[in-house]
Amino acid sequence: MVTLRQGNVSMQNKHLHEENRRSWNAVLDAHNSHKHDQAAFLRDGGSTLFPEEIGLLGDITARTLVHLQCNAGQDSLSLAARGALVTGVDISDTAIDFARQLSVDSGIPAAFHRADVYDWLAATAAGQERFDIVFSSYGAVVWLSDIGTWARGIAQVLTPGGRFVLVEFHPFASMFDWDWHLDQSYSYFGAGRPNSFEHGIGDYVAMSGSALAPSGFLEGVQDFSNPHPGHEFQWPVSEVMQALIDAGLRLRSFSEYPYSNGGKLWRDMREEPGGRMFPPESLPSLPLMYSLVAEKAV
Ligand SMILES: C[S@@+](CC[C@H](N)C(=O)[O-])C[C@H]1O[C@@H](n2cnc3c(N)ncnc32)[C@H](O)[C@@H]1O
Repeated sequence: MVTLRQGNVSMQNKHLHEENRRSWNAVLDAHNSHKHDQAAFLRDGGSTLFPEEIGLLGDITARTLVHLQCNAGQDSLSLAARGALVTGVDISDTAIDFARQLSVDSGIPAAFHRADVYDWLAATAAGQERFDIVFSSYGAVVWLSDIGTWARGIAQVLTPGGRFVLVEFHPFASMFDWDWHLDQSYSYFGAGRPNSFEHGIGDYVAMSGSALAPSGFLEGVQDFSNPHPGHEFQWPVSEVMQALIDAGLRLRSFSEYPYSNGGKLWRDMREEPGGRMFPPESLPSLPLMYSLVAEKAV
């Protein structure tokens, strides 16, 4: 079989990225319908960031920072409010439109680009612009169809001595269905094979309450149903790390966490202060999140 490729990403996977774009476009309004006046929240000094990424990023004052898969820009603008010179990139048209408007309404400047992350990385690598920090978080890796091309692109757009910071949901947690039973359709060692679902991206903000709506939770859209399918790609943590190492980055830190930030993604999660979601008491401790910092040589 001949696989047509655009850059390093196959045309088949580009097609899946486009379907994901439509699915993310469709869910944007539902997600934001649950969040009270986000511009006022940011304007008044509010932040959507969690302590993990704040700690890993450290002082970002006057640093150039690209936020890959930034969605509607709330975290990007929270980073800009901490002094970074932020560029946000996302494939979703509605998310980027929202982010640009939120930047205007909150008075926090940032640049936003609507692009497939692979196209943006390739175009940027071919140009002159470089970033002190590449940042990505919370539900980003699962949309990547080619982990090696992604990692090489990150290495290429970093300045010498620049850092990649990732805070991500643990792929081991994806092995469980809503009721914490093993989901037989999910393989941890998925080798990046697409895992397609007809119901598309759901309204996880509605399920999560105030932990994902720090500006105040609103009832908003009820019973959202997405007409566009979604396609995820399961990458074990080891493959993410190896891809970054193979791209020439040096791993500086790696952590796993027994909780996930913000999202109430499984039944009966226990919310602890700061929006940390733990499994029910009846379950053992499980890895629900991981983080890493990888550095480019000077
Ligand atoms: C769970 S959200 C990430 C949320 C993000 N951490 C934030 O700050 O809000 C995943 C994002 O990945 C984006 N995405 C999915 N596939 C992409 C691709 N191929 N290129 C760029 N963005 C993509 C989606 O549009 C969506 O906004």
